[in-house]
Amino acid sequence: MARQRRRIQVAIDGPAASGKSTAARGVAQRLGGFYINTGDMYRAVTWQALERGLDIEHDPAAVAAMLPALEIRYRLDGSGVPVLHVNGAPAPQSEIRHPRVAAQVSHVSAIPEVREWMVQRQRETAELGLIVMEGRDIGTVIFPRATVKFFLTASPEVRARRRLAQPGETLPGATVESVAADIARRDRIDSTRAVAPLRPAADAIVIDSSDLTIEQTLALMVKHIEAATAPRRRRKP
Ligand code: DC
Repeated sequence: MARQRRRIQVAIDGPAASGKSTAARGVAQRLGGFYINTGDMYRAVTWQALERGLDIEHDPAAVAAMLPALEIRYRLDGSGVPVLHVNGAPAPQSEIRHPRVAAQVSHVSAIPEVREWMVQRQRETAELGLIVMEGRDIGTVIFPRATVKFFLTASPEVRARRRLAQPGETLPGATVESVAADIARRDRIDSTRAVAPLRPAADAIVIDSSDLTIEQTLALMVKHIEAATAPRRRRKP
């Protein structure tokens, strides 16, 4: 009889530009796992809604009506790396990371039908094996029994500086102040929506990375994961 083994799932939640992607990618690389970015899945829906000229903020029903004809899923590329596909083709990063998408994505991700549609699509990635998934509701809704849950934060100024340093993600002329205001607006919508609002799971490990380097953040996370996955007999009494 096949032995049932629980798959390892690492959930990384946190507000916009808190360093989740860098951390999740790094953790996946170190553990030999699959990195899944659920924010990109919401961004892909937003991109498709904008391509169709929908008024996202005022007509959420039109966004929901678009879903049955939309296929969004991670597929492994030739090297075994999960790549987000929209209707069979890789989602262009230049489109889904564009500021016009960033400006609307919080409205899309607050639509209950969109969230419901995402749950199964995100959970089924667990079939791949060891998953490192980042988002806003991974530890609370998608994988409530995740092996380890992190909630990554950083101060608003640090987050604005990090976002400004990412090419193509801010409009020309953007300043630390304007980016911080934009991030604060998104955080407010993400934290106050009725369905799956941004909040740490009760059992999440909260890490403030404001004063940590990427390497320090990664080392801390890997230490927690190793502690959570070590066989019991090797744990200290
Ligand atoms: O992580 P990000 O900034 O790329 O996410 C884009 C938006 O998607 C963000 O405003 C919140 C939303 N989101 C969400 O509501 N739930 C998730 N699991 C991931 C992202």
